[in-house]
Amino acid sequence: KRHLISAKDLTRDDALLVLDTAEELARVSGRSVKKLPTLRGLTVVNLFFEDSTRTRISFEAAAKRLSADVINFSAKGSSVSKGESLKDTALTLEAMGADAVVIRHGASGAPYRLADWINGNVINAGDGTHEHPTQALLDAYTMRRHLGSLDGRKITIVGDVLHSRVARSNVLLLSTLGAEVTLVAPPTLLPVSVGTWPCKVSYDLDSVLAKSDAVMMLRVQRERMNAAYFPTVREYSRRYGLSAERYSHLPEHAIVMHPGPMNRGVEIAAEVADSARSTIVEQVGNGVSVRMAVLYLLLGGAQPAIGADK
Ligand code: CP
Repeated sequence: KRHLISAKDLTRDDALLVLDTAEELARVSGRSVKKLPTLRGLTVVNLFFEDSTRTRISFEAAAKRLSADVINFSAKGSSVSKGESLKDTALTLEAMGADAVVIRHGASGAPYRLADWINGNVINAGDGTHEHPTQALLDAYTMRRHLGSLDGRKITIVGDVLHSRVARSNVLLLSTLGAEVTLVAPPTLLPVSVGTWPCKVSYDLDSVLAKSDAVMMLRVQRERMNAAYFPTVREYSRRYGLSAERYSHLPEHAIVMHPGPMNRGVEIAAEVADSARSTIVEQVGNGVSVRMAVLYLLLGGAQPAIGADK
């Protein structure tokens, strides 16, 4: 079985195939045909151990638009609260006939364990601070719609990189697609391994913004940090927030992105989030097309199949 657990599982050809397929599916399902028969008879399980709005709902919408049956599992209210393990939960769901499992889990690496235990395809919907590959795909799809080919494009990712699975997956995928990524963050919110990532690092947001084709603001993940990591909210916003003043210095063609959920007024000003060049709401819609493409290319018998064997 093939899985999508890391953005590294995608070659450049794989990634372009997902983006092209998503475009085609958006074209087809956005017109008269709302529902395609492609995954009829298959069951997709959404296995969510952490909260989610966008990812869970868009995977559900994507699977349903391809005519798959969908089972939504949320750890809250399940036998996980009685101490049932991830393995026993997974085996229980597989016994009910899961052809693919979309997993979100607080532990980095949990999807790899899952792939050892079940026969279905595993899709990582966010694991701890590790990766969120379908978010990176929908971000690349959104950038490509606005900027064309990503080869040589300058993408700036700003904020709490340390806790961000979105940042890591984006750096990996965007570099595969030929973009030049720069991370901007306080030194305390960068992982020690960042020197090995295929990107540049800067501490001067203003100088980087002026040369950016897209700027992606990251949520400050207060729930994953202790006070020592973090300056005051005011200090953080002043140095690393995308204010209306900073927005006015972006190149005219540049887009403003955020994976959501946002802390308005912390990493991004409300008027910037709602501005004409913000793609934040569009990103959510694009997530459905991209996740349809991933499900189709992993489960639908398409050749070549994307992802990695485990
Ligand atoms: N971007 C993202 O993963 O959002 P959710 O946590 O709402 O799924």
